[in-house]
Amino acid sequence: MNTTIAIGADHAGFHYKEAIKKYLQSQGYQVQDFGTQSEDSVDYPDFAHPLAEAIEKGTYERGILICGTGNGVAITANKHPSVRAGLCWNKEVAQLIRQHNDANVLCMPARFVAQEEAYLIADTFLNTDFEGGRHARRVNKMMC
Ligand code: RB5
Repeated sequence: MNTTIAIGADHAGFHYKEAIKKYLQSQGYQVQDFGTQSEDSVDYPDFAHPLAEAIEKGTYERGILICGTGNGVAITANKHPSVRAGLCWNKEVAQLIRQHNDANVLCMPARFVAQEEAYLIADTFLNTDFEGGRHARRVNKMMC
């Protein structure tokens, strides 16, 4: 896997983005930060769209997006045809969006997961393989 991970957040996800970025760097990943860079109120599509475009172009293989609920960034990222963004609130779901959905973008709800859990979710997302088989057939049917 390309070890440069794209990461982005709105104001609600800013602190988690910073913490996860440091955590991933401590684990040997390179991180490309798509912003935001402060707690000042911003619009999540302004950060989710550029990250999703970079995934779509193949510049990065995996991305992580964070907002208050995770839903705003997930809905935005999934507007991009080759992006499969999944909302995760624990490591089991993170494992399943990789194994079953071949998700390439992880979306997290900063307001609803503890920081330690967020590290675990990111780790699981980055270290779980797609299972293929019947799931590949389903993923192919998703793409239109
Ligand atoms: C910001 O208040 C909040 O709406 C945003 O972070 C996100 O939860 C939207 O889906």
